[in-house]
Amino acid sequence: MNIEREIEKIKEDVLKALEQIKDRQSLMDLKAKFVGKKGVISEWLKRIKDFGEEERPKLGKLLNEVKNYITELIEKHETLIKEREKENKLQNVSFDVTLPGRRPIRASFHPVTIVMDEIVEIFRELGFFVAEGPEIEDDFHNFEALNIPPDHPARDMQDTFYIGGGVLLRTHTSPVQIRVMESFKPPIRIIAPGKVYRRDFDITHSPMFHQVEGLYVDRNVKFSELKGTLVHFAKSIFGKNTKVRFRPSFFPFTEPSAEMDIVCVICKGVGCRVCKNSGWLEILGCGMVDPNVFEFVGYRDVTGFAFGLGVERIAMLKYGIDDIRLFYQNDLRFLKQFS
Ligand code: FA5
Repeated sequence: MNIEREIEKIKEDVLKALEQIKDRQSLMDLKAKFVGKKGVISEWLKRIKDFGEEERPKLGKLLNEVKNYITELIEKHETLIKEREKENKLQNVSFDVTLPGRRPIRASFHPVTIVMDEIVEIFRELGFFVAEGPEIEDDFHNFEALNIPPDHPARDMQDTFYIGGGVLLRTHTSPVQIRVMESFKPPIRIIAPGKVYRRDFDITHSPMFHQVEGLYVDRNVKFSELKGTLVHFAKSIFGKNTKVRFRPSFFPFTEPSAEMDIVCVICKGVGCRVCKNSGWLEILGCGMVDPNVFEFVGYRDVTGFAFGLGVERIAMLKYGIDDIRLFYQNDLRFLKQFS
């Protein structure tokens, strides 16, 4: 066999060997055997010096061409092996489609929001519209126009957070009554839900809490309508068999005034720390709008009733919660129960 033919045969040997190679390690071994430092081609290159001057350049050129050809072949084969390995890997990954999925965390409404929405809905069904007022109020709307002049002892009933300059955090939602009557002519039928603030803190009192104010003004509105409305409300929110009672009370902006109590749901009327052993829990104040208030807003020939209820108090009764402070501790174990 002549030399050129021998060198050509190296190519054939490599091609034949490649057909059998399926993994990278064997490929690297093949590469070392043929084009490595001590490989077949290198051995041939060392032998060049034994040939005549004319043959040497030809042989050198041929060996380099064969070397490049083999290197290229091996690189292509390596790419092929890599792709095959990737495909095998993907085929071997198995998904367990029966595994339970990961649920996204669902937020829930705060119990006070849930109860607030329920209260608003009950009164909306009776034809009351929702009105709003500012939480930062002036003395006139929070007190004076509600028939509570500066030296009136009733101011002590609602320990106030004063901001200064005749401005304060509203202590109740009653100023919304004034703002609505200042802006609209009678008849009026509104509820005003919102936050109120007082220097008050124990198991049934919180420095920030929620009230829903109600106001109905028209010709010949009677106390019996007030009573009927509030009894309907109590039965709607606590159930048909709910026991309520009205007690005479005093508010400077209503005359006569009353407070509505509901049988304590914690102790069912027996007496406990929440109802201070009375068996009853006060949930709202109410009364017929005092004529002095109508005078402040320029209303004539009308009568009306108003009420203001504590939303947290109602939520406590509804869910059997014995400490108002639980609403504001942001303990998820507590809050999640209402989702
Ligand atoms: C008032 O705030 C009157 N504005 C209600 C009213 C409106 C009377 C219209 C007549 C006409 P009172 O201070 O009683 O009233 O509060 C009303 C309700 O808010 C109470 O029955 C009680 O349920 C709730 N409440 C009062 N103080 C707190 C407090 N610190 N924390 C939680 N709830 C409270």
